[in-house]
Amino acid sequence: MAIQHLAELKPFNTFSISAKADRLARFSTVDELRSLLASPEVKGTPLLILGGGSNILFTQDFHGTVLLNEMPGIAVVQEDAEHVWVKAGAGVTWHTFVLSCVEQGWAGVENLSLIPGKVGAAPMQNIGAYGVEIKDTFSSLEALRIADGELVTFNKEACAFGYRESFFKRTGKDQYVILSVTFRLNKKPVLNTSYGNIQQELDRMEITQPTIRDVSNAVIAIRRSKLPDPAVLGNAGSFFKNPVVPQELVDRIKAEHPDMVSYPAGEGHAKLAAGWLIERAGLKGYSRGSHGVHDRQALVLVNLGGATGHELYDLSKHVLRTVKEKFGVDLEREVNIL
Ligand code: FAD
Ligand code: EPU
Repeated sequence: MAIQHLAELKPFNTFSISAKADRLARFSTVDELRSLLASPEVKGTPLLILGGGSNILFTQDFHGTVLLNEMPGIAVVQEDAEHVWVKAGAGVTWHTFVLSCVEQGWAGVENLSLIPGKVGAAPMQNIGAYGVEIKDTFSSLEALRIADGELVTFNKEACAFGYRESFFKRTGKDQYVILSVTFRLNKKPVLNTSYGNIQQELDRMEITQPTIRDVSNAVIAIRRSKLPDPAVLGNAGSFFKNPVVPQELVDRIKAEHPDMVSYPAGEGHAKLAAGWLIERAGLKGYSRGSHGVHDRQALVLVNLGGATGHELYDLSKHVLRTVKEKFGVDLEREVNIL
């Protein structure tokens, strides 16, 4: 368990932002993690647990210890006639886990194909796409409590999942290292093809009786057509959440913009498409040279080459201000700012 000093973080975040960490180390077992946490060099320093770095923006150097989670393994831990409980190590790449479920014919996570990052970060913001969130198949997770090194099991209720939210992003922030996540998957698939243009994509693929693999392939094709590949263009997916606002505000905006996109979100509220708001505020494709707003999906901020985290953060402030001025809507950042 070598500890690297003044480590460059550029390869470890999908924005490809250059920043230094005072220390960086990797762990792939609980024992390795415990000994790192107990080592005199690490003990008491600020910690950052990093998965794939696909939901993070470094605005400065990290004066503490970055711990790269590399806990491996995918295993069936329980089974009945209808379901299978699959436990995945926090360091497994999320899409690898999805593909292994698709391969086995276990349904429930196929709509979440191609989301970047690791399994361990998935519960942090209850990752979601195409009508599905991980809370729908989540069974439990195991985490190490940093304060005393104890292992704690969290059930779904304890995780307090919401839209891009969980206990770990709020009250439990920086207190736990997620080690593994167990999902309950369906042996008898009920496919969810109603969201967005999945059905349209299946029609294009001339598929009339879709399998789990077909849905996964359709989602992959849609995502590739809309979202920039971080290997080509630095980004962290949606930079902002879709805001939930009171219906009166929706009615007021719609009076002027009847084509505004909105979805029902509980009594007297609606969820707005932040991408639509940003586009209509005139910012889609807006560029400041080294960074800008993606020209195909306005919810995504991009590093066009050589941007600093501070510059991207400043751009996000400009987006927040412009949308507020134009529509009176407060957007909230989804990406974790460091
Ligand atoms: P990181 O960025 O490494 O970490 C994110 C946060 O979780 C940090 O605060 C980190 O400290 C913490 N963390 C990570 N691992 C652990 C752990 N084991 N224990 C404790 N804390 C931990 N998200 C969606 O929900 N839906 C999408 O459709 C989607 N599409 C995306 C598309 C693109 C092109 C990109 C770049 C991102 C997208 N995202 C999406 C965002 C991102 O992929 C997810 O949030 C993902 O779960 C982040 O995983 P990660 O391993 O990269 O997390
Ligand atoms: N839209 C615009 N202009 C844009 C972008 C979008 O008008 O530039 C409109 C679209 O036409 C559509 C609506 O906004 O009517 C929604 O767009 P889209 O289907 O592309 O999804 P999104 O709301 O922008 C959300 C998630 C994504 C997830 C997709 C698919 C959030 C913050 N984002 O995006 O998650 O993949 O739905 O389910 O909820 C992420 O969290 O990083 C992420 C990529």
